[in-house]
Amino acid sequence: MTSSVPVSRPDSTSDRSLKGLHVITWGCQMNVYDSARMTDVLRPLGFVPVDRPEDADMVILNTCHIRDRAAEKVFSELGRLRKVREARAKDGRGTVLAVAGCVAQAEGAEILARAPYVDIVLGPQTYHRLPEMVARAARAGQAVIDTDFPAEQKFDFLPETQAAQTPGNLTAFLTIQEGCDKFCSFCVVPYTRGAETSRPVASVMAEARRMVRSGVREITLLGQNVNAYHGLDDAGEAATLASLMHDLSAIPGLERIRYTTSHPRDVDDALIAAHGDLPAVMPFLHLPVQSGSDRILKAMNRGHTADEYRSVVARLREKRPDLALSSDFIVGHPGETEEDFEATMQLIRDIGFAQAFSFKYSSRPGTPAAGAPMQVPEEIKDRRLQALQALLREQQDAFNADLVGRTVPVLFTGTGRKPGQIVGRSPYLQPVHVDGSVELIGHTVDVRITQRNSNSLGGVLVQERACA
Ligand code: SAH
Ligand code: SF4
Ligand code: F3S
Repeated sequence: MTSSVPVSRPDSTSDRSLKGLHVITWGCQMNVYDSARMTDVLRPLGFVPVDRPEDADMVILNTCHIRDRAAEKVFSELGRLRKVREARAKDGRGTVLAVAGCVAQAEGAEILARAPYVDIVLGPQTYHRLPEMVARAARAGQAVIDTDFPAEQKFDFLPETQAAQTPGNLTAFLTIQEGCDKFCSFCVVPYTRGAETSRPVASVMAEARRMVRSGVREITLLGQNVNAYHGLDDAGEAATLASLMHDLSAIPGLERIRYTTSHPRDVDDALIAAHGDLPAVMPFLHLPVQSGSDRILKAMNRGHTADEYRSVVARLREKRPDLALSSDFIVGHPGETEEDFEATMQLIRDIGFAQAFSFKYSSRPGTPAAGAPMQVPEEIKDRRLQALQALLREQQDAFNADLVGRTVPVLFTGTGRKPGQIVGRSPYLQPVHVDGSVELIGHTVDVRITQRNSNSLGGVLVQERACA
């Protein structure tokens, strides 16, 4: 995913103290959240978001390390940004160039060696120190690198959230947990994001209340292992994701709660019950499984079997029969045989997914699987990925087709491309287009789905709720 966090263009003619900030974001939602927070941290220094690097006095490239060629992609983007900087320099304008995120954390020194023109390299745990880094880089005239895992929680040092909830933003991400202690064989996250930590309940609640006050109606709680959340409450007791969602549900005006990404191993009874008890918790869950073969799940160090995954899903569906699932799959993990792959296909058939992400295994330096024997040839990975994706596509199409004729609540978030059209989100995160008044934006209204397009749905407004 590539996105910037544009809000407005600084009007440099009216306020010359304002500086442009352009943030490029790759990777997961946590990076999207972090980019918004970096924007907030720099705001007191006079930085305001701009859409184009050409207009930016500072550019931050927020990177992802999850699959191969991550570093190459960073260097090629840096090459492009260097040219932008040179062009600006000809007009006497300086540009601070910062690399943030998981590639910065994992390969900070290499970045400075190969791209010495970079001014700042910072990891995901140190961006609360950005103002200090900007000042240091300016003073020293040389690169600053900060990829510590500091003892202090960065959340305690961040200014109040702004960028994720500018006027008109009805949906927002809220990071409640970071890091990972699971050490799956294939994954870099425990090394780039550090150990599992959770934000205290009061800090999460305060941020959620602020978001809702500014108009947010749907919050997605974020964490690399969000259901391993164990933030402390005011009494000093460890909360759970379930108890936190109970607290959040009591905030008037917060209509929808989602969370991602969860780990099957950390789905406890209270969380399953919350799906039945809390109407605000949306009936759509991203629950990565990676493989349907017990042998491969073990090699991956996932800590559960395929049947344990089936059982978690069955218990969730018992509490919330309309629950739809999404997942992540990896094909071609070292040692994966045709039989293992078939077990994954069988699990997919058994569960039925509304949506999914699937990847060819990609060897990541420093992870246990990288040196494992029986690496799977590229052609086999390609073939398996195609077969898997065809099955998942079929299931997604069937899920969408099944919605046609049904009525679902839609949170309207903006205008559509066609005049008179408004667009919103179904409980299953599909965009839904209807003909309707802009006054409905910000409200949740029942919509009867009348058609499905490749990536969205169309429908008509219904006056009365057809179903609860
Ligand atoms: N914490 C989440 C996943 C975070 S990474 C979880 O445990 O499920 C997002 C997804 O990227 C993973 O679920 C996995 O499917 C994929 N992924 C991670 N490392 C990978 C690798 N080395 N090769 C291919 N896919 C990978
Ligand atoms: Fe990576 Fe596994 Fe941790 Fe998810 S649980 S972030 S896949 S190590
Ligand atoms: Fe990528 Fe880091 Fe997220 S590696 S997926 S940006 S945690």
